[in-house]
Amino acid sequence: MANNNTMSNKSFHEQTALITGGGSGIGRVMAHSMLEAGFGTVLIASRRGLVLRETCDSLARMFPKQRVVHFEFDIRVRSQVEDLVEFAKGQIGVVDVLINNSGLAVPEAVESITEDGWNTVLETNLRGVMWLTQLLLPGMKAQNFGDIVNVASQAGKHGYADVPSYCASKFGLLGFAESVRDDVCRRGLNIRIVNLCPALVDVESDPETPPRPGFLHVRTMAQTLIYCLSLDRNVVLHDIGLSGR
Ligand SMILES: NC(=O)c1ccc[n+]([C@@H]2O[C@H](COP(=O)([O-])OP(=O)(O)OC[C@H]3O[C@@H](n4cnc5c(N)ncnc54)[C@H](OP(=O)(O)O)[C@@H]3O)[C@@H](O)[C@H]2O)c1
Repeated sequence: MANNNTMSNKSFHEQTALITGGGSGIGRVMAHSMLEAGFGTVLIASRRGLVLRETCDSLARMFPKQRVVHFEFDIRVRSQVEDLVEFAKGQIGVVDVLINNSGLAVPEAVESITEDGWNTVLETNLRGVMWLTQLLLPGMKAQNFGDIVNVASQAGKHGYADVPSYCASKFGLLGFAESVRDDVCRRGLNIRIVNLCPALVDVESDPETPPRPGFLHVRTMAQTLIYCLSLDRNVVLHDIGLSGR
């Protein structure tokens, strides 16, 4: 059993990260920031091979001394989640930081919810995250080191009439994450689970221009991620709420 006062640490340079949905939007900016902060290896994974390849090539050009790899998978399909985990084992070894960022919304108000829309959202935002976490957690436990960062949402804290399935998935994600945190804390393990709960994020904003009114700049998500990962390892962070004005 680990002692809180002696929790071991690794420099970012020694760490590996897997970012789902790392080819676009928030995930892409997080991948960039992690490499900028010195992460040794970053694996980005999602469905669109072309998007992943373009992001991977561009990041590899910017950070030639570090390793950026990509893998095509659909988080809704269990066998593809297993393939991703096998690829990660072979290419980068144990995943030190898992960023569960893949996600989507299907805007169907309560009386218009379709089975397909409901399943798409819940399978992507919740069931897939559970599978990936379930498969990667044992490696973190075995080395007694790891971080799991879930990109949740303010829609995991408040209900919105236009996206009830999305809200259900993100509320569920927070509940799942709390259970995983309880599991590792009870065992005294050096594994942290943190949920980022942003309101609207301007994913199109370029580094120099301010975000649209009411939106967060996408770089705020990356800054918050690096801040969380930089904290002392005995700090138990829970949910971080963020909104623009
Ligand atoms: N933008 C916002 O205002 C906002 C606010 C709060 C929370 N969030 C959350 O932030 C996260 C990132 O969203 P974003 O705004 O950056 O939008 P985005 O660019 O559309 O990112 C979503 C990512 O998820 C991946 N993805 C979707 N379905 C997938 C599947 N079945 N399997 C594997 N990957 C899948 C997408 O890649 P592929 O299409 O290639 O699969 C994409 O890279 C999401 O979880 C979202 O709920 C966003």
